[in-house]
Amino acid sequence: MKKRILTGDTPTGRLHIGHFVGSLENRIKLQHEYDTFIILANVHAYANYFDKSELINDNVYNVFLDNLAVGIDPNIATIFLESGVPELFELYSFFLTMVKHSRVIRNPSVKDEIKYKKLDPSIAFVVYPILQAADILGFNADLVPVGEDQLPVVEQTREIAREFNKTYGETFVIPEGKVGRVKRLVGTDGKMKMSKSGSNAILLSDDEEILRKKIKSLYTDPNRIHVTDPGKVEGNPAFIYHDAFNPNKEEVEDLKSRYLLGKVSDVEVKEKLFIALNNFLTPIREKRKYYEDHPQIAKEILIEGTKKARKVVIETIEKFREKTKLNSLIEIK
Ligand code: TRP
Repeated sequence: MKKRILTGDTPTGRLHIGHFVGSLENRIKLQHEYDTFIILANVHAYANYFDKSELINDNVYNVFLDNLAVGIDPNIATIFLESGVPELFELYSFFLTMVKHSRVIRNPSVKDEIKYKKLDPSIAFVVYPILQAADILGFNADLVPVGEDQLPVVEQTREIAREFNKTYGETFVIPEGKVGRVKRLVGTDGKMKMSKSGSNAILLSDDEEILRKKIKSLYTDPNRIHVTDPGKVEGNPAFIYHDAFNPNKEEVEDLKSRYLLGKVSDVEVKEKLFIALNNFLTPIREKRKYYEDHPQIAKEILIEGTKKARKVVIETIEKFREKTKLNSLIEIK
């Protein structure tokens, strides 16, 4: 039997090129080798804003299209809606009883995001790793491709699985996290991280004109005023993106060496970056358009995917109920 992948995104915005190198690329590659499930984690999004259901649905649909657009093949991988698999919430509520409050508030994924975004978080936000553990363990996933910031969540999932297995006997697979080739892609403003909800991202769905504007105003080396000033390559978003997305390595090396010497303009560096990124995004835009033009096909994929996902989780939940003796006094169906 094939090993299983469970991965996905909280639909708080459209996906960007940082998601691509951080996680999507792994999904696309590994979908042939693993039985792959991709969660549109809409219930996670409610933890950010419970009162924005329309916005969430809009984001769900866009993240869904983003996944199809980059090459997730609906004939081999399963994309599904989290809320369509309510058994996950039963697991979640049990896992909540297993995790100490002190442990949950120590989770760096949660702590960092609260600090970074200056949140006054809902309770659900603080415990989102536990919902995520239910997502992952509900599928008995072997592998979880995620961005680097999510590794502590996978670690907490492993702890829950081990603790449960120790108490109730072997039930859950202990999953492993897997990070992509670029761990954390810098934002267009030079900030540490490209953000889904922020304005420093190059989206997978950006059209040519928007891409051009974003590249034009891309943060580079702030100390370089004249073309003849030697520039800094290291940590420079223009070169980080070149490294990640320009397949012409010779061109990149040439630009870098000239930049260091003050022998190339930012304009040229950016123009070549625009071309590379535009080439990268063109087939993604085309595939997205196909599904936008065929909403019935897209909808069918989501409905069928959710049904299939639910079947898998129901198998897990039956085992779980038996082990925990949750319903041993009564029969519920
Ligand atoms: N928390 C993840 C994010 O913000 C999304 C997510 C929800 C997820 N459930 C998951 C990722 C299960 C991997 C596995 O991107």
